[in-house]
Amino acid sequence: MEAIVLHGGQGTRLRPLTHTGPKQLIKVAGKPVSQWVIEQLKKANISDIIMILGDNNPQKVVEYYGDGSKFEVKIKYIYQGKARGLADAIYRAKNLVGEKFLVYLGDNIVPYNLSKLVDFKGSASILLAKVQNPYRFGVAIIKEGKIAKLIEKPKEPISDYALVGVYAFTREIFDVIENLKPSPRNELEITDAIQGLLDRNREIYYDIVDGWWKDTGTPEDILEANMVLLDEFNQRSIKGISNGSSIDGRVTVEEGAQVFNSRVIGPTFIGYNSIIKDSYIGPYTMIGNSCNIENSDIENSVILDGSNISGVSLRDSLIGQSSKILRINKRPLAMRFIIGERSSLEV
Ligand code: TTP
Repeated sequence: MEAIVLHGGQGTRLRPLTHTGPKQLIKVAGKPVSQWVIEQLKKANISDIIMILGDNNPQKVVEYYGDGSKFEVKIKYIYQGKARGLADAIYRAKNLVGEKFLVYLGDNIVPYNLSKLVDFKGSASILLAKVQNPYRFGVAIIKEGKIAKLIEKPKEPISDYALVGVYAFTREIFDVIENLKPSPRNELEITDAIQGLLDRNREIYYDIVDGWWKDTGTPEDILEANMVLLDEFNQRSIKGISNGSSIDGRVTVEEGAQVFNSRVIGPTFIGYNSIIKDSYIGPYTMIGNSCNIENSDIENSVILDGSNISGVSLRDSLIGQSSKILRINKRPLAMRFIIGERSSLEV
């Protein structure tokens, strides 16, 4: 069975981080969000993967995953370009999938036993989760234990059960998508496509996800995903150098990383070739590759690759790739910022 993993979309809610690449490649707990997806698929013995690429630096996805062999899967790519909706993205894989296939949104993390999802009779199988803000999602109305209707981003509180970003379909979904009309936001919606199956009197199987899952669409979601994944999966593994430092708990220090005269408390991840000096790195922090952290205190934060931080205290922060935050102890003590669209600073 094949899985279609979506890497398109605009990622507007994650700007400025998404100005230079797709949100599915933002790292949490040491790896890109969509790598968590690929590894989960692999564990469920699904290793034929079709990646749908958007128009935001799609070559970065291809550079990172290549043909998939590094991740022990086989990856093929299809270019969607402009975001025309999830149903449009899925349709583009029509010639590459078999009778049944899985669809996984590459910015979602749903720790669910996928073999349970793909073992279905009927036309589709979906996952639902109870949410507090259903107006942000596609929701399902359930009557007498069956899905009766699906509505995209409802204005009225008609159901708390949102569709989670993993679906299993039969090829019948392609017939429905061929006849779909674009929604008011000019996209071919996945909820309309599944509703199309219901309109044909097909049964849609579902299960409720009762544990943690995350759609990493906003900065807060990224921090939360990082925290939960570090909490659940991070191991103590010190491959780099630690000198004059105390490293407590489940801390990963990758090869080539160096920790000098610092205190690190897990769960924490420090990426390849990063240098931590005279600093405190507290729980739920991910430091990416090739970062330089000096004389700083950092807690519950995601610092992406190549960033340089010196002389500051950071908490609950998400710092984009190759950023610099330096305290300059020279008068005048005015702050100097060069920041992108939709940045957020609290000083
Ligand atoms: P969304 O998060 O709903 O859309 P978006 O990426 O445009 O984000 P924002 O609202 O912040 O602008 O998309 C859900 C997932 O589906 C995400 O992984 C991106 C992917 N996607 C595609 O691959 N193609 C598409 O046409 C759309 C709309 C989304």
